[in-house]
Amino acid sequence: MSLEITKPLKIGYERVCNCPPQHINCLTAKEWVQSQVAIWEFFYEKRDIRDKNIHPAVFPIGLPKRCIQLFTHEGELVLDPFVGVGTTLVAAFDLNRNAVGFDLKKEYVDFSNKRVAQVKLDAYGEKPQASTIQIAVCDDAHNIPEYLQAETVSLAVTSPPYANMLNRPRLNKSIRGDLRRNQHFLKIQQYSNDPRDLGTMEPKKYAQVLGEIYKGILPLLKPKAHSIINVTDLWWKEGKYGRRIPVHLYVIEEMEKAGYELRNIIIWDRRDVVNKVGIFGWPSNYITLGTTFEYILDFWRPP
Ligand SMILES: C[S@@+](CC[C@H](N)C(=O)[O-])C[C@H]1O[C@@H](n2cnc3c(N)ncnc32)[C@H](O)[C@@H]1O
Repeated sequence: MSLEITKPLKIGYERVCNCPPQHINCLTAKEWVQSQVAIWEFFYEKRDIRDKNIHPAVFPIGLPKRCIQLFTHEGELVLDPFVGVGTTLVAAFDLNRNAVGFDLKKEYVDFSNKRVAQVKLDAYGEKPQASTIQIAVCDDAHNIPEYLQAETVSLAVTSPPYANMLNRPRLNKSIRGDLRRNQHFLKIQQYSNDPRDLGTMEPKKYAQVLGEIYKGILPLLKPKAHSIINVTDLWWKEGKYGRRIPVHLYVIEEMEKAGYELRNIIIWDRRDVVNKVGIFGWPSNYITLGTTFEYILDFWRPP
């Protein structure tokens, strides 16, 4: 099923499953127990996009999938304000949830919509069978309230830009010696030069603008709906030792100002992607390898 872009969008948001009303998801007690551990790990599958020429910072399908399973029911509506190449939409399709994603860059939005169409084709062939819709819209995340009605979204899940992290030559520090000088070495892989792009902003300004966007999203969420933000901290090249920029703290602060309440901090264990690591800092400056983990911050709209 495709969808015409109208304001508001005509997209479903109600449960289609038979779960008891007080259940916040369709999980069994056994599946729930497995999700209680606060360190998550994901494995890439064939449909994951790992080509940095397509998009420089894509998360694995498993990440939004796990959040969707935890915080929604079948048929409900998922929002990704920074959808990139549509990973959240693919996860939502797999789980029979409606989903809408936004991105400033038309190239990514077109890619997302084609990706979803292909995933559906692979699943069903020519005859569409799904009753849910997954769609990407090209617009600034500030404008999301124009597209969605109040209290219709059951989950917002996203990986926004990590401030202006990509706006500097890529040093490939998590890759060993000779492998480090690959085709991406010293390239700047920012998403765009659009001044509305959060990836062009210095960290504090970035967090403030992110908070502004989420303030607009808050009334669209059902009460107690969760909002998941995946971010990482930055190491700023400054002086002899560099400086840690605690982006996740800035984001928590601005989300609280926007009316959200922090519920959980989950660590995304990414050690599987840094197995050919070089040595740096030794012997005078101890810095952990930034790429080994990221934060998955879980907020909700307070009841
Ligand atoms: C980290 S990427 C998201 C990648 C996505 N999780 C995926 O797997 O494809 C962040 C995205 O935010 C988009 N973006 C930056 N500023 C934006 C804004 N103001 N409104 C909408 N999208 C924006 C960028 O174009 C970029 O694609």
